Amino acid sequence: MLATHIYFLVALTRIASSVNIQPSTFTAPGTFPTSVFSKYYNNPTATSAQPQPVVSDPATHEIYPLALTDPNTIPINNTVDPHPLPPAASSAKIFEAAIAQLKSISESPIFSGDTCGRCQAILEVAKFVSLSTPSNGPAFFIQFCNTFKLSSNCNVAYGQFSGIGSVLTQVVANADVGGYDGQALCQNFFSMCPAPPTLPLDLSSWFSKPKPNPLPAPTKCSGNRLNVLHLSDLHLDPRYLTGAEANCTSGLCCRKNNTNTQSPNIVLSPAPRYGAYRCDTPLSLALAALQAIPALTGTKDNGFAWTIYTGDLVSHDPDNQLSRDYVEYTETIVFDLFKKMLGSGPVYAALGNHDSYNQAQDAPHSLGGALAQQFSWNYDHVAGLWKHENWLPQAAVALARAHYAAYMVKRVDGLRIITLNTDMWYRANYFNYLNMTNPDNSGMLRFLTDELEDAEDAGDKVWIIGHVLTGWDGTNPLKNPTNLFYQIVDRFSPHVVANIFFGHTHEDQINIFYSNNATTMSADTAGAVSWVRYSTFFLKCLFSELYIQMGPSITPLTNLNSGFRVYEVDSATFEIMDAHTWRSDVNTFSSLDSQTAVGPTYGYEYNTRETYGSSISGWGVDDPLNATWWHRVTEAMEADSSLVTTFNTLQGKSSVRTKPCTGDCITAKICYMRSGSVPIAMQNCKQGFGSVQS
Ligand SMILES: *[C@@H]1O[C@H](CO)[C@@H](O)[C@H](O)[C@H]1NC(C)=O
Ligand SMILES: *[C@@H]1O[C@H](CO)[C@@H](O)[C@H](O)[C@H]1NC(C)=O
Ligand SMILES: *[C@@H]1O[C@H](CO)[C@@H](O)[C@H](O)[C@H]1NC(C)=O
Ligand SMILES: *[C@@H]1O[C@H](CO)[C@@H](O)[C@H](O)[C@H]1NC(C)=O
Ligand SMILES: *[C@@H]1O[C@H](CO)[C@@H](O)[C@H](O)[C@H]1NC(C)=O
Ligand SMILES: *[C@@H]1O[C@H](CO)[C@@H](O)[C@H](O)[C@H]1NC(C)=O
Repeated sequence: MLATHIYFLVALTRIASSVNIQPSTFTAPGTFPTSVFSKYYNNPTATSAQPQPVVSDPATHEIYPLALTDPNTIPINNTVDPHPLPPAASSAKIFEAAIAQLKSISESPIFSGDTCGRCQAILEVAKFVSLSTPSNGPAFFIQFCNTFKLSSNCNVAYGQFSGIGSVLTQVVANADVGGYDGQALCQNFFSMCPAPPTLPLDLSSWFSKPKPNPLPAPTKCSGNRLNVLHLSDLHLDPRYLTGAEANCTSGLCCRKNNTNTQSPNIVLSPAPRYGAYRCDTPLSLALAALQAIPALTGTKDNGFAWTIYTGDLVSHDPDNQLSRDYVEYTETIVFDLFKKMLGSGPVYAALGNHDSYNQAQDAPHSLGGALAQQFSWNYDHVAGLWKHENWLPQAAVALARAHYAAYMVKRVDGLRIITLNTDMWYRANYFNYLNMTNPDNSGMLRFLTDELEDAEDAGDKVWIIGHVLTGWDGTNPLKNPTNLFYQIVDRFSPHVVANIFFGHTHEDQINIFYSNNATTMSADTAGAVSWVRYSTFFLKCLFSELYIQMGPSITPLTNLNSGFRVYEVDSATFEIMDAHTWRSDVNTFSSLDSQTAVGPTYGYEYNTRETYGSSISGWGVDDPLNATWWHRVTEAMEADSSLVTTFNTLQGKSSVRTKPCTGDCITAKICYMRSGSVPIAMQNCKQGFGSVQS
């Protein structure tokens, strides 16, 4: 640069010296030479401002406006961008770029040691894809799955239609993927983040008024007892293939083509006509149970006062064998069978996670527009069936249609039944990962609270019925919603909430809820109890909703007997006075195949009061099996571990395959019984002893 400069000066000097310079002076005139331009915007001779000539561009013929040069109004932020933007990319191009980013994030050393950051960065890219070119969302997730080996068949698991690809696309498009939502998604579904913490709960405006103090005086027992049937987790398998492999290597057994890989051509264990330990319920077993119920429970003539069904009608098919038709078929046939076989009392049913398509999915209304309605077909369907069977009044049917199939029934006897769609706190529902800092994004717990306040005002008692339990070992539901549920139960117990019933794990379990968030657990603080009656029918493997999860829950689980329970309920307090459980030994079913004279035998398994109550002093026959009683049972268990051994056997419905509970299992099990929410279970209990299935 310098060299050029010097050369330029030299050149100038040469030119100067070559012309003939006349030394002279010149004085310019004191007014502007106005003739230079033909037109002016202002007075060119005025001394207060510079002349503004009207300049016409001979090339463009444009006349430049005064505003361009007016010193008082300098235009800024010219809206004509001198640099063009690139053309919008095609959807294919965007996808290509997103996959390149996925690759670069997955390989980038910036994230070494920070798998969680890596996962959330990928979800940020997924969010862009989902918002800009949603049709590529599922394909992006298939690539994500392949890159991190999240499934053995990514195309099926993350694809469109029966896969979860479209759901994930909706979720990441709306979620805070860089924050709590993203961390929880990465933890639960991809095992790439640590679990985010339980968030502080602000209850200051949740309840419209504080818990009454003192509580209203308890209703007097009437001494009149009602029989109430509790069924759960029927999981009818209408595709059960008698004679197929009952000891398959993975997934749902007793199905065509699902062999034992060690013996693909010869069936090792032919599926018996009435069912097997690693299969769902064949129609023959469903009918045997439904025939046994009236015969064994003394309800042949009058039926039950009512029946509660705590969810899961549909079998555990792989996702790509499920369909809306299949779910509707099962809902139709099972409710029809209940109507035909159980007598006249109404059946109050809650939806289970398998009673949806895709299974475990249910979307919150807050998604808005058509997306908010994407499961209405199911709510309309079951509500229509409940109306058809004459189990629900019109008001409850309307609530069910509008509210995720959850409803409130006000019975004439003063009991209110409130059912919940517990997919709204189930970990496997992807839609729960939207707005997670709100513990009630779906509004389901608002609905519950409003109904409980209404019942309190009316002096009515309530039973809450759902499917996925809120506590026990804390492995199934989400932290924040169950933390809130626990506070709601405390607020309305025991004067409003008389009982809570769940299903889902197929095992016979119990949960005690305490006051003050279980900071003191004693007979005095025990407020409510949830009866978890897992599986009327034996069942198993949660593989289909958990197959993308890591850890022990992937293992196909099973090995329980088939059973049902009847409660004796006080007709004034709606407390449980006695509970009777029957079961059938699945281990005997193969021996029934050689004949047709008899089917399965259901026999009495146990009486809850007699089994656990003998060590509880001062509890009269007219005192209910309430939370206080159950807390004292857990104290008796602490003193005498043989009671836990008994509980463990009954948890699996006396299955020959239930493994003994010893050592840490004893204390863990008592701890689970006292844990009604995920944070309490996680805070207090040793993990790994929740299930007796193996
Ligand atoms: C011009 O752009 C700047 C920067 O974006 C902005 O702050 C300013 O408000 C704009 N001014 C006008 C007059 O539009
Ligand atoms: C089931 O098959 C496995 C091999 O896949 C075998 O080890 C096991 O003993 C079989 N169980 C029964 C009950 O037949
Ligand atoms: C079983 O496998 C055969 C051969 O691959 C196939 O044709 C058939 O459709 C399969 N049936 C089922 C029910 O999966
Ligand atoms: C998230 O919460 C906000 C605020 O309540 C709500 O407007 C929005 O619809 C919610 N989004 C989803 C996807 O649930
Ligand atoms: C359970 O019943 C006993 C005996 O009737 C009563 O003293 C106790 O307060 C009840 N507990 C609850 C939580 O209702
Ligand atoms: C209840 O206790 C659990 C376990 O200590 C805690 O994580 C949670 O935040 C508590 N909930 C409330 C509302 O205080």
